[in-house]
Amino acid sequence: MLKPEIEDGQVSLADPAFRADVLNGLNARPRAIPARWFYDRRGSELFEAITDLPEYYPTRTEIALLGDACPDLAVRVEPGRAVIEFGSGSSTKTPRLLNCIEPAAYVPIDISGDFLRASAAELGKGFPDLPIHPVEANFMHPVPLPAAVADLPKLGFFPGSTIGNMTPFAATDLLRAMRTSLGEGALLLIGIDRVKAPDVLVPAYDDAAGVTAAFNLNLLERINRELGGTILLDAFRHKAVWNDAASRIEMHLEAVRDVRFTVDGRPFAITAGESIHTENSHKYGERGTRVLLRSGGWTPIAEWNDPKGWFALILAEARPAETAP
Ligand code: AVJ
Repeated sequence: MLKPEIEDGQVSLADPAFRADVLNGLNARPRAIPARWFYDRRGSELFEAITDLPEYYPTRTEIALLGDACPDLAVRVEPGRAVIEFGSGSSTKTPRLLNCIEPAAYVPIDISGDFLRASAAELGKGFPDLPIHPVEANFMHPVPLPAAVADLPKLGFFPGSTIGNMTPFAATDLLRAMRTSLGEGALLLIGIDRVKAPDVLVPAYDDAAGVTAAFNLNLLERINRELGGTILLDAFRHKAVWNDAASRIEMHLEAVRDVRFTVDGRPFAITAGESIHTENSHKYGERGTRVLLRSGGWTPIAEWNDPKGWFALILAEARPAETAP
């Protein structure tokens, strides 16, 4: 049965794409729901809290690397480039980059228009003279850039190891789409998380305070709230595992007992021990990172690593295709 559009006098806010991804994902084997649906208001707050956890090293390591890279970036990235950020921009990272180069414009690209305009406005306060042109688009596909930056040289910015959420297959497509969006001669500054010991990786995704567990379980709350679900949250537990063959951390929601529920009126039955796969976070070695970038049409020209080798910031260039020997 279709859910009515109007309920209790309120327009239903359910996103049709969310409904489709959840219903298809719960019917798939293995069951899997795309990680992008974590980020409702509560999910975004919980992610912010994750970035402050002692076990979650990526954010603080990348911020330190931006500081280390700054003098070198100031030399390698000549003044006057348009900075194109993929994702709506982090209030802690973006100003650090903009402050160490002399950008001519800033173009944040995000699929969520509200989030995009809010963060662009916030950033604008700190950079009153910088032209800012937000673009509401899905950057997994090539994005036409605003006419105002068409003739400027470009610097793409993709921090946070967000690329790790994608399988290498999808990550390659994304890097190629970025190359198409930015054009030959563009630079790309990208943050990528490194392979490291599972006893460091697993706690980063299964912290002692249980914030990551709450972040994962919030997806079920969102399904209940936005899609009229009847999932009992205590029937599931957060699980983080290192999949060595695929070089990634996986997050799952595992049924702790046999459980039945409905979503949007449709019945589901999950048996104890079965799980819903909710996120992949791929980790790359030194050479693997470079090969990934080259697969996507980007030639690495400089990189910055922390002393432990836990995270990498890489500057790459869209060079003309190499001739095969
Ligand atoms: C925002 C995708 C980079 O994979 O580390 C953090 C998301 N998930 N803890 C990551 C996340 C669980 C994060 N990314």
